[in-house]
Amino acid sequence: MAIRLGDEAPDFTADSTEGPISFHEWKGDSWAVLFSHPKDFTPVCTTELGRVASLKPEFDKRNTKVVGLSVDGVADHERWSQDITDVTGSSLNFPLLADPERKVADLYDMIHPNANDTLTVRSVFVVGPDNKVKLTLTYPASTGRNFDELLRVIDSLQLTAKHKVATPADWKDGEDVIIVPAVSDEDAKQAFPDGWETKKPYLRLVKQPS
Ligand code: BEZ
Repeated sequence: MAIRLGDEAPDFTADSTEGPISFHEWKGDSWAVLFSHPKDFTPVCTTELGRVASLKPEFDKRNTKVVGLSVDGVADHERWSQDITDVTGSSLNFPLLADPERKVADLYDMIHPNANDTLTVRSVFVVGPDNKVKLTLTYPASTGRNFDELLRVIDSLQLTAKHKVATPADWKDGEDVIIVPAVSDEDAKQAFPDGWETKKPYLRLVKQPS
């Protein structure tokens, strides 16, 4: 069954390039990104994993742990990691789960048989400190993901978890945000004492809370 927003992220134990990982224990009360790629020694995946490695300091800043997965084994992951370094100049600095029996892939519905009946699609799950799923993304094998977008979404998720705001289209950290419609003007005066701009009664823009 597909995993939906707000569901608890299923727990699992799996081998990885950094030894066995029990997901909930490993993530603790951090945020986490669990993402799958179809196959080791493939071109798009090589670029993706190098890019994520280069962005590790950005994930760290956001208190977000990252873990990758494919249906290959640890020995393949380890051999492939040299290629990732050679090609992208960034070395793996986060664990890659080995899932040759597709236990985690099945648990997270990462195999979409009408796309490919053996390989994982490019799934992304962002999991909050409460172990609930906050975001899911699914890309086909042929399209590498935009990891800057993933960081942008994490910024939005973390902000909106703390404040009664939502983020508009193409929002980036530091830009104005929207006061959620459920907050009355009366309550908004308390929460946003410096005021806001009313574009429509249901669309009130306010400086991003810190
Ligand atoms: C790739 O990473 O390049 C890839 C993987 C599986 C199918 C197609 C492309």
